Amino acid sequence: MSSPAGTGSLSEGPLVRDFDRSEPATLQPYTRTAIALHWIVGLAVLGMIGLGVWMINLPKGAGPFRAEMYNLHKSIGMTLGLIIFARVAWRLVHPAPPLPATMPRWQVLASHFTHYALYACIVIQPVTGFLGSLCSPYPIKYFGYTLPFGSWDVPAAKEFLSVVHLANASTLAVLVLVHIGAVLHHLLVARDGVFQRMWFGARD
Ligand code: HEM
Repeated sequence: MSSPAGTGSLSEGPLVRDFDRSEPATLQPYTRTAIALHWIVGLAVLGMIGLGVWMINLPKGAGPFRAEMYNLHKSIGMTLGLIIFARVAWRLVHPAPPLPATMPRWQVLASHFTHYALYACIVIQPVTGFLGSLCSPYPIKYFGYTLPFGSWDVPAAKEFLSVVHLANASTLAVLVLVHIGAVLHHLLVARDGVFQRMWFGARD
């Protein structure tokens, strides 16, 4: 049962607003800031997954180059982590625009589940990478500058955090594939304007 607009009911809360629906013709776009953060973080995360998988497969005999690639991965990862925190903070105070009223309920729920899981994974990834690196025997270098945290050298914690970092990267990759599948469905099958509202040209 829905409440009339302007009554101050629960249906106007920021979390519940996500579940509201709009007609396709009146679909509200995301803001420029949300669109920029979405694409910067999305592409950078994909690049970091590629860099991570490539670098751990470099032969140990690759010498300083291998260590340089690890340091590059850590440096970009920490920068990206800060951007991700900014993105999550932005999203917490800027609810997503409503989904089309034509979308089946199960797709709305699947969409929310995937989005929140993606947010969780992109937060867990840099946090476990950073904490795992702190627990390694080496101090962390940020683009050549040694961070003042030292190296905690806790092998058991390092091992655990590496496993979580790897498992979370795999989960993230699967979620990205599901996300891209859903985007293609909206763009090519449903043609409901959901993709276009996260594309450039939307206004604040
Ligand atoms: C969104 C950001 C990040 C993504 C998507 C990412 C992704 C990955 C991937 C796919 C791997 C290879 C698979 C594996 O985990 O073994 C990896 C490895 C690694 N990453 Fe990241 N990473 C991120 C952030 C970071 C950060 C911030 C650090 C450290 C400051 C870091 C440190 C490492 C290290 C040391 C490894 C080698 C495996 C290990 O010892 O855990 N990563 N990363």
